[in-house]
Order: sequence, then C-alpha cells, then structure tokens
Amino acid sequence: MFREVRDNTLYFDGCNTVELARKYGTPLYVYSERDIIGRFNELKTCFLEKYPCTRVAYAAKAFFPVAMAKLVAREGMCVDVVSGGELYTAIKAGFPAEKIEFNGNNKQRAEITMAVEYGIGRIIVDSLQELTLIEDVCREKGKKMKILFRITPGVKSSSHDYIVTGKKDSKFGIPLDDEVILPQVKAAIDSEFVEFYGLHFHVGSQILNNDSHLQALDVMLDLVTKIKVEFDCDVKELNVGGGFGVTYVEEKRPPFSYYLDPIMKKIDNYYDEKNLQRPNVVIEPGRSIIAEAGISLYTIGSIKDIKDIRKYVSVDGGMTDNIRPALYQAEYTGLIANKANEEKTETVTICGKCCESGDILIKDLKIAHPEREDIFAIFSTGAYGYSMASNYNKNLIPAVVMVSKGEDRLIVKPQTYEDLLRNEII
Ligand code: LLP
Repeated sequence: MFREVRDNTLYFDGCNTVELARKYGTPLYVYSERDIIGRFNELKTCFLEKYPCTRVAYAAKAFFPVAMAKLVAREGMCVDVVSGGELYTAIKAGFPAEKIEFNGNNKQRAEITMAVEYGIGRIIVDSLQELTLIEDVCREKGKKMKILFRITPGVKSSSHDYIVTGKKDSKFGIPLDDEVILPQVKAAIDSEFVEFYGLHFHVGSQILNNDSHLQALDVMLDLVTKIKVEFDCDVKELNVGGGFGVTYVEEKRPPFSYYLDPIMKKIDNYYDEKNLQRPNVVIEPGRSIIAEAGISLYTIGSIKDIKDIRKYVSVDGGMTDNIRPALYQAEYTGLIANKANEEKTETVTICGKCCESGDILIKDLKIAHPEREDIFAIFSTGAYGYSMASNYNKNLIPAVVMVSKGEDRLIVKPQTYEDLLRNEII
C-alpha cells in the first residue's frame, strides 16, 4: 500500500494528495499504478509462473477506463468483460482479442455478434438459450467460438446477499442439474459452430475465506468426471471466477496464494487420481486487483452538529461517485488529508451531497477536528466506485488520476455540464 504521511499530509504513491485535490479539483479518484502492478506481480509469482497453463482474466467491471485496459494488457493479463461497452473499451485500448472473455447473464445478440466478429478468446455461456444464439451468430459469420458453461455450484458464500452469486437461487449460471447440463454439453461437443472448452463458476465477491471456492470446485470436478465418462470428452479449462477479498476497514486481505494453492492442489490431485488431462485454470479477479489501489478525495463543506445525536460532515461527492455504502452497507475508513497526523478527537458521520438520506459514506468515524475546505480522503475505493458512478441529481462524474512514484497524470477527464446534456434533445 503506497500511503504515507509527510508533514501532516497524506501522500499516495509519492504524491501529495492535498496538492492533487487543488490541481484537479474534487471529488477525485486517485489510483496508484505501483499498487496495481504489485498486485499483478503477486499473481505472476504465485500463480502464472508457479503453475503451468493458467490465465488471469481481470474483471473489467471493477474499474475499466481505457488507461486501465492498456495497463492490464501491458501486464500480459486477459480480461473478463460483461457487456458490449466493456468489450468496446478493451478493443479500443488495443487488447488482443484472444485474451478477452465474455461473461454475463443476458448477452444480447448484438453483443455476441461483436464478440464473434472480433474473434475473442472465449464466451462463458450463462444459459441454455444462449448457446443456440451463439451458434446462430457463428453460423452466420462462419466462425467457431470457444465456450465454457457457467455453472451455479449451489454453494453459499459469506458476503453481502447482493454480491453472492454461487447459491442455487441465482440469476447467474446454469443450475447444477445433470439432466439439464449434460444434454447441453453434448450439444456443444457435437456443434460445428462452438468448441466446448470448459466449465466456469463464480461464488461471489469480497470473500475472505477459501471454503466456498473449494466447495464449488468439488462440485465442478464431479461434473468433469461425468463429462469424461458420458462423452469421453476432456474439460480443457476450469474457470474458478474471482471474489477474493480485500481490506476496507479491519478485514485482512489474504494473499492470493491462500485461495490459489489449495485450489490448484485440489485440481492436481483430482486429475492425477482420475488420470485425466490437466486443464487450464483461469481466475477472474476484479476487486482484489484494484480496490486498495484507489482512494477518493473530497472537499469538506457544511458541518452540522446535532447536539447529543450526530455530527454530519458533508463532502462534495457521495453516492454518485461511490454507491457501495448506500447499496451494500459497505464500510470504509478515511482521514483528513491535510491533518493526517492530528489527534482524532471527534466522532463524525461523513455524508454526501445527494438528495437521499441514505447518502452516507462513513458512519461514526473518528477524525481530527474538521473544517470547511479540509480535504477528506477515503481509502480502498478503487473497485466498483468509479465503475458504478452515476449522474443522480445531475452531479458530475469526477476525474480519475493515476499516480506513480510522485508523478500524476489524468486518465479520465472530469465530466462537464455540456457532457451531461450531450444526448438531450434541446
Ligand atoms: N467473475 C464474475 C463472473 C463475476 O460476476 C464477478 C463479479 C467477478 C468475476 C469479479 O469479482 P471480484 O473479484 O471483483 O469480487 N458491485 C459489487 C460487486 C459485484 C461483483 C459482481 N461480479 C460491489 O461493489 O461489491
């Protein structure tokens, strides 16, 4: 983590955050390039270089401006996209098509057509109807597409209900039922237009314990054997999704190896025991790459002390640049960047400027004495903050700055009022 305090001021990857706020305005998203690269390096060491035939497909949904897409490509990673928009961004950034994988529970024909035309690496098929749609598009375009089936493994992970995806009652994936899955796998194996390549699961997000990944893997390995026995067909790729947890407040981010070593061991043992051809193993981390690499900077405005109840400290952003507290009761921590060493004497609630009582960013946080014009920094906002930003109340989506070793560069310009009205018929 590249956070440090110098002269009572918060620095991030060598940059003075108060000066960044002055230079670019607030609210502002700031990302540490060294932190992102550090995370990819960890994956190279503990996964890509340690185990053969492995791929990391960064989950674009967590944060994916063109500059990030270029960084992901430069680091040699693959990418997991879930919409035509993310696919378009990857392509515009010059991402090699073979390294793009396409997930999503309701891919549109136009999106599938785009994917087939670009010749992306894999489509993760989320429903049985989708297979027919993909075959149809491939037939039309004279192409063949590698596909994996996304299976809902029926395990429950410990995370917020909205971000749990592996349990049986889920809009994602194909429910685990041999009578449903096996005929489809057979259809894919026999198809002229798709190549049945493997199986995929994703158990949820912000998971700090490896149980659910391992349980889901057991279920998936059973299916691998069934496919071998029934159709004499190898599952060439297993995609175990993302979901690895990070530190927001007090959680301790486990190293990637905590999840990946037991996963790889289980796969190796299983394939050895069954004497099967070892598959490629793919992971799709989003949050664990980018969450802690990002912070948000705000300027403090009105301060309201409701005697004996609560002190509200308002900042110039809120749920429009970070919806996670309002949507998932997500917790964050932060500090006054220009008073970084001062004693935390007050307990306050940091609230946004949107017309919504739920627009609270941090409840009951101890901070130094707050004053108007102080710069407030919130940590670990790099994942699903900018990517879920909205124009509610016609607030503008802030700029994004990349910092590294004391250098800063703008990677996304701040929206303007003209941008807001661009598509409106006036
Ligand atoms: N793969 C698939 C198929 C996914 O659905 C997701 C996340 C990921 C990979 C990446 O998961 P990660 O490594 O980032 O946990 N907006 C929510 C998170 C939604 C995640 C949806 N799927 C949040 O802010 O907590």
